[in-house]
Amino acid sequence: MYEAFYGLREKPFRISPDPRFLFLAPQHQEVLSKCQYMIDGRIGPVYVFGPIGSGKTTIARRLHQQLSEDPRHQVAILIAPDLRTQNALLRTIAKEFGVKTERSFDETLRNLAAFLRERRDMNVVPVLLIDEAQMLRRPLLKLIHFLLNYETNTEKLLQVVLFGQNELASRIDAIPELKSRMFPSALAALDARDTEDLIAFRMTVAGANLNPFTPEATQAIFRTSLGLPRAICQLCDMALLAGLSRKNPVIDEAAIREAASSLRFEAKEAAHAR
Ligand SMILES: Nc1ncnc2c1ncn2[C@@H]1O[C@H](COP(=O)(O)OP(=O)(O)O)[C@@H](O)[C@H]1O
Ligand SMILES: [Mg+2]
Repeated sequence: MYEAFYGLREKPFRISPDPRFLFLAPQHQEVLSKCQYMIDGRIGPVYVFGPIGSGKTTIARRLHQQLSEDPRHQVAILIAPDLRTQNALLRTIAKEFGVKTERSFDETLRNLAAFLRERRDMNVVPVLLIDEAQMLRRPLLKLIHFLLNYETNTEKLLQVVLFGQNELASRIDAIPELKSRMFPSALAALDARDTEDLIAFRMTVAGANLNPFTPEATQAIFRTSLGLPRAICQLCDMALLAGLSRKNPVIDEAAIREAASSLRFEAKEAAHAR
């Protein structure tokens, strides 16, 4: 709708998981490298936690894509809210890995264990990624803990990465035997510089020759979004729309304030402002 007005080929700030618009800030790169390292070395399970809209699902998909491109991995990705009971979780994991499920829990577990040993002999690393893992209730986390017990003297047979909101960390804290085995990886919000880079990156991918956001506007986006990518994208999209209705292709601080109020975002100073 506003593409022609700004000389764009497409919308730059769509909240869709299009990998072309993925901007790997150092925070994102760090989380990805850590997961990849733990998986490739069969070192241990990781939990990635961060605020809503910080990019967890985006990173989970990227990791899934990265791992799937390499035949030494077999990856399954699940969404926690679909899973209610230990049995449902176990069956879903088995199905995702192409393991036969049985009527009894124990028999399905046996099939899964046989699969893990078989993959070990084939030198393939099975990787289980679970998104929205803050929804996993205690018994389900206990099952994850149980699956982590499949190991040789030197290696884990199943690699696990959980992604969830900050609450995930407290859920894991409440199970000390699980906590002691898992490696945390916190996904922080972007700083002012990365916020600016993400905006410029997305504008370029969408075909912009000029960045319409003034430095003051960019700072206002950072303060209002607290450096969270989803909020950054929503603000930018609304601000571009506001610029079109004002017939002003320069996005200044006032346009951001207008966008923030239309989104009912509360303007606040980012705690981590630099
Ligand atoms: N690294 C990134 N580069 C570009 N856009 C991003 C990035 N991370 C997140 N986003 C944008 O923010 C939105 C929210 O990210 P998402 O991964 O769904 O967050 P979370 O799962 O933490 O709530 C995504 O749809 C995407 O548009
Ligand atoms: Mg998510």
